[in-house]
Amino acid sequence: NPEIYHEFTVQEKTVTRLCKSHKIITVNGQFPGPTLDVRNGDAVTVKVTNKARYNVTIHWHGLRMMQNPWADGPEFVTQCPIRPGGSYTYRFVIQDQEGTLWWHAHSRWIRATVYGALVIRPKLGVSYPFPKPKLELPILLGEWWNRDIISVLQQALFSGAAPNISDALTINGQPGDLLKCSKQGTIRYSVNPGDSILLRVINAALNQQLFFTVANHKLTVVATDAVYTKPFTTNVIMVGPGQTTDVLLTADQKPGRYYMAARAYATAQNAPFDNTTTTAILEYKSATSQPILPPLPAFNDTNTVTAFSNQLKSPGKVDVPTKIDESLLFVVGFGFFNCSPGPRCQGPNNTRFGASMNNVSFVLPSTVSLLQAYTNKVPNVYTTDFPPTPPVKFDYTGNVPRGLWQPVRGTKLYNLKFGDNVQIVLQDTSIFSTEDHPVHLHGYHFYVVGQGFGNFNPSSDPARFNLIDPPQRNTIDVPVGGWAAIRFVADNPGVWLMHCHIDTHLAWGFAMAFIVGNGVGPSQTLLPAPVDLPPC
Ligand code: C2O
Repeated sequence: NPEIYHEFTVQEKTVTRLCKSHKIITVNGQFPGPTLDVRNGDAVTVKVTNKARYNVTIHWHGLRMMQNPWADGPEFVTQCPIRPGGSYTYRFVIQDQEGTLWWHAHSRWIRATVYGALVIRPKLGVSYPFPKPKLELPILLGEWWNRDIISVLQQALFSGAAPNISDALTINGQPGDLLKCSKQGTIRYSVNPGDSILLRVINAALNQQLFFTVANHKLTVVATDAVYTKPFTTNVIMVGPGQTTDVLLTADQKPGRYYMAARAYATAQNAPFDNTTTTAILEYKSATSQPILPPLPAFNDTNTVTAFSNQLKSPGKVDVPTKIDESLLFVVGFGFFNCSPGPRCQGPNNTRFGASMNNVSFVLPSTVSLLQAYTNKVPNVYTTDFPPTPPVKFDYTGNVPRGLWQPVRGTKLYNLKFGDNVQIVLQDTSIFSTEDHPVHLHGYHFYVVGQGFGNFNPSSDPARFNLIDPPQRNTIDVPVGGWAAIRFVADNPGVWLMHCHIDTHLAWGFAMAFIVGNGVGPSQTLLPAPVDLPPC
């Protein structure tokens, strides 16, 4: 396997956006960070050195890291953080994956500015399942804050009144023409008439689901989360935090300038959201006209989102597990903790906001990682009694009684046997507010076999599952006030986090983790811990 070596230096840098300058955390002084450009089969080594004032880890979002959770990156899950002055070398092999993923910090909210594209090309001599595009552009959608991100996080943890809203959405780190002081920096892509272009769209935003479109041009979806899809054409896509969508576009319009634009899809009732529109410019060479702005769906246009996700399919028949060994129902949503009146208790009736899965609000350990606790048998770090179904059954999307609003805090994991066929139904709740949730599973791709609105009905909904050609993803957007069903084979041993990729919800406890045991023989066994794993 070809060897790829990179050095990532995590360092502070003063960056100016929206007429304001402040120090942000970057990789190699770049914002967004460097693109990791690799091929399927490559052995990759990235030495990360932390020269910033905050702890950091790097997660390679969507890479399966077979037998190798040591390189996965979530802080206190698979490793302890790289402290200021420390370093850690991530070593991993790209195994049977092609397409667009991304990397990001996985330590508190440092990922707000510490992220970049991870482009996996086919092996040498292997081509894409579509004609080779003339141009390939990573499009990283993100958010910009005028304030230090850790202070924004503190606010998110305590406030109920006004959740942290970013000051602008961004494309490749730039707010674009419609935001103040931003014209100079707007990203421009110059194309020749007739060019075919692959846009690798990545939602790196902390808290915003995003619509994305390009004025006057059709988008042909060819992959999501680094898995090819059956191509289909659309005007607009919706990308949740953590998700990627590859689209092909042909520069077949009147030579001119066209905006690509992204704006929030927001479903939480009465909650403010970033309502800015971020833009970049697709400009045909030598065109001088004013750029054309595309229409975007309304912020709450769930119909467009549903129609889009219903079109996602695998290119042909796929091997969906049919005999299920573990059938899990995870009820997800909000809750409130009692707290004594004070600035930390800004939820209704002097409560503190929380989020949970099956009523457990997840707490990370702080002195050892879960993976090290598991492999070294460290007692009293976690329990394995995460409930496979909700401890209390109720009308999840109905009028939920107040008594059910109080989750319990815990570090609860769930054991899976190697090779188990797993089905998880993720069910949104209307506790406080219904909202769609982009739920990400580390270490796996899963088949999205079904989704719907209201409460999942175990006697009628499975009959409608797509067991022929469902799409594969690593992050599923659970519909607002609805459910999504996923299936996968537990064939990757280790400790793997599952969580909402909206960081406010993650900070509030919307997470759990699986322990997947070893199988038989060396190809099904967890690799030993690297010697330079950061000390806890
Ligand atoms: Cu993209 Cu746990 O993260």
